[in-house]
Amino acid sequence: MVSTEKNRVFPYPFGEHDVYRYSNNAIPLNPPIAIEVTESYIEEMNLKRELLKKHPERCYYSEPHTMGAQWEALDLILHQLAKYYPETFKLVTNDDHWIFTNQQTGEKQSFTFGDQSTLNMEPLDFVGRHVQEDLILMMQRDGDLFLDAGQLCFPANWSLYFDAGMSFKEIHTPIPGFKSESLDERILQFLMRIEPGSPWWRKNWSLMVGNRLDTSLETFAEWGQARKKVTKENVGELVHLRVEVQKLFRLPKSNGILFTIHTHMLALEDFIQHTPWLKQFSAILKELPEFITDYKGISLYREVVLEYLEGELKKK
Ligand code: HEM
Repeated sequence: MVSTEKNRVFPYPFGEHDVYRYSNNAIPLNPPIAIEVTESYIEEMNLKRELLKKHPERCYYSEPHTMGAQWEALDLILHQLAKYYPETFKLVTNDDHWIFTNQQTGEKQSFTFGDQSTLNMEPLDFVGRHVQEDLILMMQRDGDLFLDAGQLCFPANWSLYFDAGMSFKEIHTPIPGFKSESLDERILQFLMRIEPGSPWWRKNWSLMVGNRLDTSLETFAEWGQARKKVTKENVGELVHLRVEVQKLFRLPKSNGILFTIHTHMLALEDFIQHTPWLKQFSAILKELPEFITDYKGISLYREVVLEYLEGELKKK
């Protein structure tokens, strides 16, 4: 794919402002589609399944009471795959007898909807193996949301194993300023008001050295060291903008929230081809307070990136 094509499909994360701060940046999702199939579909499916096989304890978690929500998530996603990507996915439903076909992986699965014994794994685990998104179920009770199930293969430096069962605020404790500015409480209240049929979405961004999708907290020793290797010679190729497209769907029967995360990556050398992005991102990165660069893990090489971006800007 030529760089302009890569840029065309890349979910650029910034709005009109040249300043970035943490905020509730969720907006209504129109059209209300939870999943996106990109050209790296097969590559990512293979990687996901390999990770699930090798590290089930860090890639999958569920509490028994999430089974209803899991079937709802499967229902929503399989119907959307068949509706929006009919050339690749087929779904035939005859009462509770369902047949799902994935032409890209060459798989066909018959099962009885609602009966886990007819699938060879839990519904959330099954459906997650057919989409590029990571899938998290937040269950609502006692005026709060809890991470009670999830399939997570591509985390940006966090751990499903560690966060399992935590509340929304507990999960977000490491983020500087979230609690002191009551952002955690405001976002929690917003989430608890999400209604069925009216999903929301937001984009989260960071910089990554390399393009590894599996950057779990557990494997930090394998990928974190690369941050020390950024030089002015390799920065364009090595450093990537990592963007997560995150979507939130209320599940009407269980009242849970399905949170989908689709991770996209673009090397800076491709990213800078689009001058308005180069210009705005240089300004944002230059102004970004240290508490955010520290949390995002980019303080170590921010200066090298800035020099690169500003040098490229002069050439335009
Ligand atoms: C409801 C499902 C959600 C889950 C499961 C979730 C989970 C997480 C996790 C695990 C982290 C990393 C925390 C760490 O360092 O250990 C994080 C970061 C963050 N979350 Fe959420 N989140 C959710 C929804 C949201 C929403 C709706 C917003 C805002 C509207 C939000 C804003 C943020 C921000 C700003 C960060 C810091 C990211 C960065 O600087 O790279 N989250 N979230």
